[in-house]
Amino acid sequence: MSGARVMPTVYIETYGCQMNVADTELMLGHLGSHGYRRTDAPDAADVILLNTCAIRDHAEARVLGRLGELARYKRARPHVKLGVAGCMAQHLRDGLRARAPHVDVLVGPDGYRRLPELLAAPEGDQALALRLDPEETYADLPVARASGVRAWVTAMRGCDRFCTFCIVPYVRGRERSLPGPHLVDEVRRLCDLGVSEIVFLGQTVNAYRDGGWDFAELLARTAEVPGIRRIRFTSPHPAEVSDRLIDVMAGCPAVAPQMHLPVQSGSDRVLARMARDYDTAAYEALVAKLRARVPGLALSTDVIVGFPGEDEADFAATEALLARVRYDSAFLFKYSPREGTRAFRWEDSVPESEKARRLERLIALQEGISAEINRTLLGTEVEVLVEGPARRPAAWMAGKTPQMKTAVFLGPASAGELVRIRVESTTSHTLLGRLAA
Ligand code: 5AD
Ligand code: SF4
Repeated sequence: MSGARVMPTVYIETYGCQMNVADTELMLGHLGSHGYRRTDAPDAADVILLNTCAIRDHAEARVLGRLGELARYKRARPHVKLGVAGCMAQHLRDGLRARAPHVDVLVGPDGYRRLPELLAAPEGDQALALRLDPEETYADLPVARASGVRAWVTAMRGCDRFCTFCIVPYVRGRERSLPGPHLVDEVRRLCDLGVSEIVFLGQTVNAYRDGGWDFAELLARTAEVPGIRRIRFTSPHPAEVSDRLIDVMAGCPAVAPQMHLPVQSGSDRVLARMARDYDTAAYEALVAKLRARVPGLALSTDVIVGFPGEDEADFAATEALLARVRYDSAFLFKYSPREGTRAFRWEDSVPESEKARRLERLIALQEGISAEINRTLLGTEVEVLVEGPARRPAAWMAGKTPQMKTAVFLGPASAGELVRIRVESTTSHTLLGRLAA
């Protein structure tokens, strides 16, 4: 670090899921309390960190490319420290050190507490924190949250499920939950600061457990916080959705009628090989129960196409499931073999071109369903929590409905306000309208 600078600056680029967005806020908070100032300009930063994802090969390839580009900042200003944080650092370890020798710091998801110390290592040394720690929750560290109407709050970390395709349990380690009363206090503090929506995060967030509190209890207690308008969470595992959780969703108006419920496949044979711990009958029974109990529930999902051994009949079963369940939206992925997982040892039997064809078909199917569902909202009024100016059209405002649908409308309205919008047109992703009279 240059001795001349009083306060070194840190720039963090975030890849991957919301857990990583939350972890970046944690790193910024922790480094902030150690004298680092955040910057949005990598060319002026003393520390450049990439908070990375390992879920698919594409995510890692992007970061490797970006590391090559960032080397020039180090050449221009040799005191700059370049670090790789998160799941990809944990996944690739020595492989990453070999491929990007100019990286100064490698820190895995359980090593963030040591960041100040790692960044203080002598120039030219590589500093590593790649040990998983089943006790680490960072509950005591400050979080530098982006200001806004919504706050992301990590409720639990890690995953114990070991789905056969997934690298997460290997790079994020065992499940552990943050203390419940601490989380509710944190939500209370955020609401006092003007936040109106909380999203609880966890890789299997409904596996949350702290003493006598399960996830349903955490939601019920959070719903009592004064000023809270909407509570969401992501992602629950379908095999662990308790009746009590459904009761709380049905009974607490603050808990938003929306659930991301990853199904992964519509073929029972594939689900068994994925070790998902449910079959389509159990999954669809859960969906029926949720829909019966939670009026207006919006459902979204994740699907993987081209899992090892997925044949035409398996794929047709996935298409049929999407057509039966009719999700409001879906994230659709091509299977990507991850070294270290169980499925990595199986032949990646579906050719890339066939994965691409299956993906295209699912996208077309889902786009049609999403568009149809949104079209049913034409002419209705929806409640929108205003987030700020829309990207376009200019002077329009944007926010989310309780179902987490994006609504764009002609103002006036200000961030944090709850307004009623009359829907005048729709696409598969957006509702457009104007303030209801
Ligand atoms: N290949 C493709 N998609 C994957 N996901 C997890 N692992 C893989 C993989 N190896 C998807 C799952 C999960 C989402 C976050 O990413 O659908 O729900
Ligand atoms: Fe990965 Fe399965 Fe855990 Fe989700 S539940 S993080 S897909 S291992």
